[in-house]
Amino acid sequence: MKRDITVDLGDRSYPIHIGSGILDDLGAQCTAQGLAGHCLVASDENVAPLYADRVLQALENAGFTPALEVLPAGETTKSQAQLLNLYSKAAAHGLDRKCFMVALGGGVIGDLTGFAAASWLRGIPFVQVPTSLLAMVDSSVGGKTGINIPEGKNLVGAFHQPELVLADTAVLSTLPMREYCAGLAEVVKHGVIWDAELFAQLEAADLAEIDPDALSPVIARNCEIKAEVVQADEREGGLRGILNFGHTLAHAIENVAGYGRYLHGEAVAIGMVYAARLSTKLKGLSVDESARIEKMLASLELPVGAPGLAWKELRAAMAVDKKTVGGLPKFVLADRIGHVEFGCEVPEELMEEVWHGIGQ
Ligand SMILES: NC(=O)c1ccc[n+]([C@@H]2O[C@H](COP(=O)([O-])OP(=O)(O)OC[C@H]3O[C@@H](n4cnc5c(N)ncnc54)[C@H](O)[C@@H]3O)[C@@H](O)[C@H]2O)c1
Ligand SMILES: [Zn+2]
Repeated sequence: MKRDITVDLGDRSYPIHIGSGILDDLGAQCTAQGLAGHCLVASDENVAPLYADRVLQALENAGFTPALEVLPAGETTKSQAQLLNLYSKAAAHGLDRKCFMVALGGGVIGDLTGFAAASWLRGIPFVQVPTSLLAMVDSSVGGKTGINIPEGKNLVGAFHQPELVLADTAVLSTLPMREYCAGLAEVVKHGVIWDAELFAQLEAADLAEIDPDALSPVIARNCEIKAEVVQADEREGGLRGILNFGHTLAHAIENVAGYGRYLHGEAVAIGMVYAARLSTKLKGLSVDESARIEKMLASLELPVGAPGLAWKELRAAMAVDKKTVGGLPKFVLADRIGHVEFGCEVPEELMEEVWHGIGQ
């Protein structure tokens, strides 16, 4: 199954191509978007040995001159040091304003490469070739790019939309199971915030095995949801905030536990359990629906608690989160599966009490 979705953002609109085996079409799709010349392909040490040759070949076949830069795998690569590294490679490869970058990898490579493209020569085009499930359903769509600094995750970045997203679902067959499950956390999130029907489909589906064909429609629906939200609010002035369901606590967990102990999606799973429980206290989410969210996440082998993390440290980390205003964290809370509100305030004592329910 092949699916094409358009993210409709006026002169920044772009296509998302989803399908099994479409990696070899990359060059032709870049040409179709009017790209030309040199390009810098950034990837990581897990993905590059598997797929970089095909990507370089596809680009060369279409007349491009690609250079490949392979970075270490993992969240620590979203760093100032690796950003400077990409600038150096861009300079060495002679990337001018007409050239472009290609992110071949998961969300780490996508966020870093996107930000390098957003800032190199004050902005050059880039293309997302997401290879993890999380990147296909979430990070490659919407134009948020950035890096981490020691003070917090994603604190430095830019909105920079790609020219094109090409998601070859066949590459998911090599994705480690743990990464696959972490990606499903964002899929569950999309169901909770926007689409009760998707949530019910996930409950009924057998997602235990990585089956690219079965996943294609799920990925397409998730890209549509993300596109709908981003189209309504490209720069997160309002509605786009709903995509942060579970993320207020998740970012704090990632920060306090140290980047890498929990995968992003795992931290989001814990954060969604927390947000669901807050929602039952404050927004009338039924206990039954909160339990369904928790059961869904647990059935996907995702963590639903985080023992051993100190509340004080988590609370301090939430205070420096970039969504925080005046030290008071804001939450996305659900009144039912399929509908959430953003910008919700939560009384201090409740924040702590609900944490103790899942943090032991
Ligand atoms: N920009 C956004 O809107 C947005 C949204 C959500 C998440 N994010 C960011 O995305 C990042 C997480 O992304 P991620 O989960 O993709 O992490 P990741 O990029 O680290 O990829 C996960 C792991 O899987 C490996 N991998 C990826 N594709 C593979 C494949 N096909 N075969 C074998 N191995 C493969 C990678 O090498 C890596 O080890 C976080 O930094 C998060 O902040 C950004
Ligand atoms: Zn996320």
